[in-house]
Amino acid sequence: MKRIGCLIAALSLLMTLSACHTGGEAEQTLRIGVALYQQEDTFIETVTRELQRVALEKEQAQNCKINLYITDGKESQTSQNEQVDRFLERGYDVICVNIVDRTAAAVIVDKAQAAGVPVIFFNREPVEEDLRRWKHAYYVGLPAGDAGVLQGELVLDAWRTQRDTLDRNGDGVIQYVMLEGEPGHQDALLRTEYCISTLANAGVSAEKLASDAANWQRGQASVSMRQWLQEFGENIEVVFANNDDMALGAIDACAEAGLDKRSMPFIVGVDATPPALEALREGTLKGTVRNDAVGLAESMMELAVSLSVDGEPSQDLELTDERYVWLRYEAVTAESLEDQAVS
Ligand code: BGC
Ligand code: CA
Repeated sequence: MKRIGCLIAALSLLMTLSACHTGGEAEQTLRIGVALYQQEDTFIETVTRELQRVALEKEQAQNCKINLYITDGKESQTSQNEQVDRFLERGYDVICVNIVDRTAAAVIVDKAQAAGVPVIFFNREPVEEDLRRWKHAYYVGLPAGDAGVLQGELVLDAWRTQRDTLDRNGDGVIQYVMLEGEPGHQDALLRTEYCISTLANAGVSAEKLASDAANWQRGQASVSMRQWLQEFGENIEVVFANNDDMALGAIDACAEAGLDKRSMPFIVGVDATPPALEALREGTLKGTVRNDAVGLAESMMELAVSLSVDGEPSQDLELTDERYVWLRYEAVTAESLEDQAVS
C-alpha cells in the first residue's frame, strides 16, 4: 500500500475519474497513462479537458471504470521517458503519448512493445519508421499541411473580395510576416509551407517581410510582432501564425501600437481555441482553422478502450496503414461562427 501511495504521489498530476453510474458493479477498470509534452500549452489543455470529458462519457456508456493518469513532460524528453517507464511499471493498459521530441519515439515504442502495452501517440507525430517498429503503436492527429491550405484559402478569399483593404500599398503582392511554432514540429513546418504554396498555386504573389519561431507562444509572438511593426509598420498586410496563441500575440502587439481591428493587418491562426474565437467575434482575428481537440479525444479513447478490451482497434475507427487515425481541419471565420450559432 505504501509503495503504491508513493508512486501515486510521484505523478505530477493524477486524475481519477468516478466510477460508472449505470447500476451494478463496474466490470473492469481501465488504466490509461497520458504523457503530455507540456501541460500549459493552450491547445493541449483543451485536448486534456476533452479526454477527461470523453472518459466520463465512456464509463457511463460502457459500465466500466476509466482512470486517466496525466503527466507533464515540461518539454523534457528525459522526464517524459521516465513518466512512461512508470506507467509501464505499474502495468497500465494503454499509454497515450504527446511526445516532446518527435524524433525520439523509437525508445518509447520499444519499451511499450517489451511490456506488451499499446501506445497511442497524438498531436506530435513520430517519424513513420519509429511507429512501424511495432503493430500496436498508433498515431492520432490531423494532416498538418491541410491547416496551411485552409489558412491560405482564408487569405485568398479576402484577397478576392476586399483587395483594397488587404493590398494596402496597391502593388498586387501580399506582404506578409510568419509566426512559426517550434522548429521541427510537423505542424510548424507544414503549415508554414502550405499557406504560402496555396497563394502561389492560385497565382497570387507574396513577399515575406520576416519570420520567427515563436514556439507556439503568445508572449514570444508579441515580442516579434512589436519589432516588425517598428520595422515595417503599415507594410505588413498579412500575419500568418501557425497557431492561435501566436496570432493573439500579434494582436496584442498591434493593440499596444494603437491599431484597432480596422487598421491591423489581416491576421490568421490555427486551433480555434476559446480566446481565439472571442477575437474572431471582436474582429481582430480574421480567421482560424479548427484543430479537432474533440475528435482527438474521442478517437484516442475509442482506440484505447478497444485495444484493451478486444486487443484490436475498434471497427468504428478509420485507420490508414493500420496505425494512423486522421481527423480533419476546418476553416472558421466570424461568419461561419454566426451561421453555426443560428442553425
Ligand atoms: C497546435 C498548437 C500546439 C501544438 C503542440 C499544434 O497542433 O496548433 O497550438 O501548441 O500542437 O504540440
Ligand atoms: Ca501589397
